[in-house]
Amino acid sequence: MKNFIEPLAFLYGSKLIENSMNSCVNIEYTKEKIVHNFDKNKKYLLYMHIPFCEEFCTFCSFHKFKYNEYDCKKYFKKLRVELLKIKELGVDFNTLYIGGGTPLINEGELLETIEFAKEIFSIRSVSCETTPNHIDPQVLRKFRGVIDRLSIGVQTFDDEILKKTKRYERYGSSKQLQEKISKIIGEFPIVSLDLIFNFPMQSSQMLINDLEIAKSLGSQQIVTYPLMTKHKYATTLEYINALKRSKEFEFYKVIKEELKYYIANNAWAFSKTAEKLVDEYIVESSEYIGVGSGAFSYINKRLYVNAYDLDEYSYLLNSNSNAIIARTEEFSAKKSLQYQFLVHLFGGVVDIKKFNKLFNCRVEERLKVELLMLKIAGAISFEGDKIYPTRFGEYLTLVMMKEFYMGMDRVRAKLRESIKSN
Ligand SMILES: C[S@@+](CC[C@H](N)C(=O)[O-])C[C@H]1O[C@@H](n2cnc3c(N)ncnc32)[C@H](O)[C@@H]1O
Ligand code: SF4
Repeated sequence: MKNFIEPLAFLYGSKLIENSMNSCVNIEYTKEKIVHNFDKNKKYLLYMHIPFCEEFCTFCSFHKFKYNEYDCKKYFKKLRVELLKIKELGVDFNTLYIGGGTPLINEGELLETIEFAKEIFSIRSVSCETTPNHIDPQVLRKFRGVIDRLSIGVQTFDDEILKKTKRYERYGSSKQLQEKISKIIGEFPIVSLDLIFNFPMQSSQMLINDLEIAKSLGSQQIVTYPLMTKHKYATTLEYINALKRSKEFEFYKVIKEELKYYIANNAWAFSKTAEKLVDEYIVESSEYIGVGSGAFSYINKRLYVNAYDLDEYSYLLNSNSNAIIARTEEFSAKKSLQYQFLVHLFGGVVDIKKFNKLFNCRVEERLKVELLMLKIAGAISFEGDKIYPTRFGEYLTLVMMKEFYMGMDRVRAKLRESIKSN
């Protein structure tokens, strides 16, 4: 960060998200029955969470448990019950995103569950995450025509970082990863590789190597997540100093240069062709219903959270119409609009006319101050009826999206506390 405007823009952007997420941190565990307040005429995205992993990686704070076959089978069975209960409420979906954890950890159960979801909903597109240990072409053959996009968590092709993050022994060396991945390219309409950048020991050259290898493997999509940590700064000055020291923006410029012939689906996902790719359920559809333990839903300005504990998840589905244990207050109309604007800008463009129609507003008036700040910071440019992020603006939206995910983590932590005290 060379000038002083950029850190200030970051501070403003990050605080905006942090404040919104902090209002969610007041979330409380409740034994009252809560229902999703959804609109039957709207199309939401369906997110399904599979919270099991064979081993845990050092950097990951996603909701997960150690895998055992018994619990996992029981869990999938309950997941199908939850899907049916949602169907009974009259909601339908076109898109299913399956995240984890490790969704392919029990292929038989996953297959049955996707097929069930396709039977009861109008699902046309399925995206599924996986670790590199579950991409055996023989096994995945069963998923042809079932999964449309397979996203493989590679994180890095650097042996030293793989060792530090405890992935080398579990998922293989860089060379082994490349061999495994090359066998699966072409088996699904879209194979996507997830990379993480800004690891503490990473250099620009290491990142370039990762991207060069990813490109040479020929996957249709590459997603580059900035490392998300729990790190918090006590003062604003500390935050600005950390930003000045951070190599994140430099790394981001490396990514944009390396992937300049790819099409940016959003600030962190890049594809080889112009097809519409589902890269992040939050962006694909700004409102979504989450099923499974610990899943979030965002409907009509509120976040809803499903039970974390597997026994409670199961118990609630036996007695209630869903497994929700908490919901936030309604976000103010302004906060909700700021969030939607961020999501669209992160996606690469805000078409003012479409945006105003979609949210029944005049964004130029409602977010006048925010737009002015972004303009002064050199983060956006106006072209006719469209607002585009500049390179710095793209990076700013990426940081804000990262803040949003980290905020979700704080909501989870808060909920865990409130569950303990109940
Ligand atoms: C929740 S993981 C599931 C994928 C799969 N379990 C795996 O590890 O290969 C989905 C993606 O989130 C990203 N991710 C997880 N923890 C992260 C963190 N702390 N910072 C940035 N990205 C992270 C990784 O790129 C990962 O592939
Ligand atoms: S990164 Fe993937 S495999 Fe590692 S702990 Fe997280 S969900 Fe599990």
